[in-house]
Amino acid sequence: MEESERFISSTKNMSDVEVENKLRPVSFDEYVGQDKIKANLKVYIAAAKKRKEALDHVLIYGPPGLGKTTLSHIIANEMGSQIKITSGPSIENAADLAAILTNLGTNDVLFIDEIHRISKSVEEILYPAMEDYALDFIVGKGPSARSMRLKIQPFTLIGSTTKAGNLSSPLRDRFGVLCRLELYTVEQLATIITRSAKILGVSIDEDATQEIARRSRGTPRIANRILKRVRDFVQVEDKNTISKDDAQKALNFMDIDSLGLDYVDKRVLMAMIEKFSGGPVGLETLAATTGEEVSTIEDVVEPYLLQLGFMVRTNRGRMLTKHAYKHFNIPVPKSLENDD
Ligand SMILES: Nc1ncnc2c1ncn2[C@@H]1O[C@H](COP(=O)(O)OP(=O)(O)O)[C@@H](O)[C@H]1O
Ligand SMILES: [Mg+2]
Repeated sequence: MEESERFISSTKNMSDVEVENKLRPVSFDEYVGQDKIKANLKVYIAAAKKRKEALDHVLIYGPPGLGKTTLSHIIANEMGSQIKITSGPSIENAADLAAILTNLGTNDVLFIDEIHRISKSVEEILYPAMEDYALDFIVGKGPSARSMRLKIQPFTLIGSTTKAGNLSSPLRDRFGVLCRLELYTVEQLATIITRSAKILGVSIDEDATQEIARRSRGTPRIANRILKRVRDFVQVEDKNTISKDDAQKALNFMDIDSLGLDYVDKRVLMAMIEKFSGGPVGLETLAATTGEEVSTIEDVVEPYLLQLGFMVRTNRGRMLTKHAYKHFNIPVPKSLENDD
């Protein structure tokens, strides 16, 4: 294991979980960015509360660390509802889900993380539950079998997924509200870092904040993680303010480059340059060549490379742009010279 890898993975001790909870926004006001989603949700929530009804079902999707779980909790908070939390892989069978659903209170929120991973039989229980607040099941066998319907309390399902494309369309169609989270801008990340530093009780220079924001891959979870590691560096040296110099030292040690690219990003980019002359190359081939999971490349690496303008998706596969070559000081191939 590389030194930097060990460094990052050593953070999951108890106090880190506590820190994580402290940093998590609990209201729309604290939740930075995603303005359009927030504005829409506020209207839907106000209307549902006025009618004293459950909020319509909400599907939240986007890359890891962008605030899906956080947003789900905020929705429940703002509704004044209880939230029950589960995840796709942990609902083993239809009976598990039926038990969860019958135990919900009126207008409660059921949060299913990684909802693309629920099984077909579990999914079929969800359809009548979402549509009619009912559970359908068959009693008896053979010719005497009858279908029975059991009413449950009105509730809101919030599903969260990194891949909305993997949801069946009947399931996707049953969500009234679709929220696609976007990568955050450097300005928004700077706001998040400033807020987190205050909560952690560390002071940080404005240019250090900007430096971390620029190198956080558009992702709040990464911004907070870097801030915590930089704080460790500074505290070990008995300083009380994080300077840009401190931030740069820690970031370099973590093997995060000037644009926030980490070793996985770099491995993918270099494979595309060295083995495929910039592409086009398919996801599976790229995964096999780099030894990364297809889902890592698709959900984590690619969104940021697209945002940077380093990569484009064509119907023949993924292709690099000249900006990727320039970042590594590698001569731009003739075929890409005139691209934008
Ligand atoms: N919009 C936001 N504003 C401020 N902090 C955020 C925001 N979104 C996410 N975070 C921070 O990033 C962390 C990861 O968010 P989380 O909701 O767990 O992401 P996801 O569920 O999409 O993987 C949270 O602990 C929170 O502190
Ligand atoms: Mg989550």
